[in-house]
Amino acid sequence: MEYELRVQTAPEWVDVAKSDFNAFLQDHAACERKAAALAMSMVQHYPDKPDLIRGMIDLAMEEMAHFREVMKIMLDRGLQQANDEKDPYIRALLKLIRKDGRTYLLDRLLIFSIVEKRGHERFHLLGESLDDAKMKDFYLRLAKAENRHYTLFVKLAHQYYGQQEVQDRLDELLDAEAEIVKQLPFRAAVH
Ligand SMILES: [Fe+2]
Ligand SMILES: [Fe+2]
Repeated sequence: MEYELRVQTAPEWVDVAKSDFNAFLQDHAACERKAAALAMSMVQHYPDKPDLIRGMIDLAMEEMAHFREVMKIMLDRGLQQANDEKDPYIRALLKLIRKDGRTYLLDRLLIFSIVEKRGHERFHLLGESLDDAKMKDFYLRLAKAENRHYTLFVKLAHQYYGQQEVQDRLDELLDAEAEIVKQLPFRAAVH
C-alpha cells in the first residue's frame, strides 16, 4: 500500500516556511481544521460504507486533536487565525477529480492520500530543521501521523476499487501532483 512521491520538496521550502513562522502556523491550523471537516464530510457522504465511516471518524478526531495542538501554540503566542484563503495546491489537485460518479470516490481517496503524504514529507523536513526541542518533537510526531493517514486512504481505495485501476490512477495523480509542486512558488505555508 506504500508509495513514494515523484518530486521531493526542495530544502529552501523550510527556509521560506520559517521566515514567517507565525503565518506558517496560521496556515497549518487551517489545514488541520479543514482535514477534520473533510473527514466528517466523507462520513456523511458514504452512509453505505462502514469501513470508510470508521476510518474517517477516527481520522476526523485525530485531525481535530492536531488542530487543538496548533491552536494552543498560536494562542500561547497571541496569534489569531488568518482569513480563510484557498490553498492553491489543494485547489489544483481537486481540479483533477473526475465528475463520473463511479470514479469520484477513487479520485478523492487517492488525492487525499497524496496530500497526507506531502504533509508527512514537509512536517518531517520542518521538524528536522527546528532547534526548539518541543516544536521539533511536535512536527516529527505530526509527520508520523500523516504517514499513517496516507496509507489509510490508499487502503480504502483498494477496498472499493480494483488493484489495477487504483495503481493506474495513482500513477497519473502522482505525476500530476509532482507537476503542481514544481510550479507553485514556496510560501510560509504547508503547501
Ligand atoms: Fe493532521
Ligand atoms: Fe492527516
